[in-house]
Amino acid sequence: MNIITVKNYDMMSDLAALLIAARVLEKPNSILGFATGSTPNGTYQNLIKMYNNGLVDFSQVKTFNLDEYCGLPQEHEQSYNYYMNENLFKHINIKAENIKIPNGMADDFDTESMEYETAIKNAGGVDLQLLGVGLNGHIGFNEPDNIFHNITREVELTQSTIDANSRFFQDKSEVPKTAISMGIGTIMSAKEIVLLAGEDKNEVVQKLQDNVVSPEFPVSILHYHPKCTIITVNKN
Ligand code: F6R
Repeated sequence: MNIITVKNYDMMSDLAALLIAARVLEKPNSILGFATGSTPNGTYQNLIKMYNNGLVDFSQVKTFNLDEYCGLPQEHEQSYNYYMNENLFKHINIKAENIKIPNGMADDFDTESMEYETAIKNAGGVDLQLLGVGLNGHIGFNEPDNIFHNITREVELTQSTIDANSRFFQDKSEVPKTAISMGIGTIMSAKEIVLLAGEDKNEVVQKLQDNVVSPEFPVSILHYHPKCTIITVNKN
């Protein structure tokens, strides 16, 4: 695990976008895994700038997002589908058929999850997975638990995640209670992982450096990943 500490959010976003763009330059048909939330916003803005400047081409790229809330239609402003479209996809030349995000409105979440796993495998696996991290150490929506859950499935969100994400909703009661999330195994099977941890996650990064791997702190599994870069912000 390679931890790179930078001075501010913009530097973190610059570095992350550079890493992603470099992979796409090396392999134009890269499979990218994307995350939502506040943290990757700047990274996506930089990728859009690079695309507008002709530095990177997404026409052959395929993407798989980590997760989606259950029960929110794609056009709901807080759905991850909407987020990705607004913050990245509609601004670049990615093909609609190459974008995969779990369907939070599926009739059967077990089938949806199985099909998502199969789609990732059939695409050849994720080349680079971008991650954020929750204050409780969750990655995707793999919440602290007594076991690591391997595969994509419907998950219950913990109260701390519901509280943290309620900032995006008018009322806490509107925050969905479940989501479909890639599993820990799905995330770990990515060939490369880049995790962004802004200043608000300094305690999470500090705990990660204790080197204790436990499902109670899901992000700790990344100690076992062969190619994982963590970009963290510390002004001091
Ligand atoms: C989002 C996701 C989550 C977020 C995490 C941090 O797709 O999977 O794990 O990365 O909750 O969110 P922010 O960046 O809003 O602090």
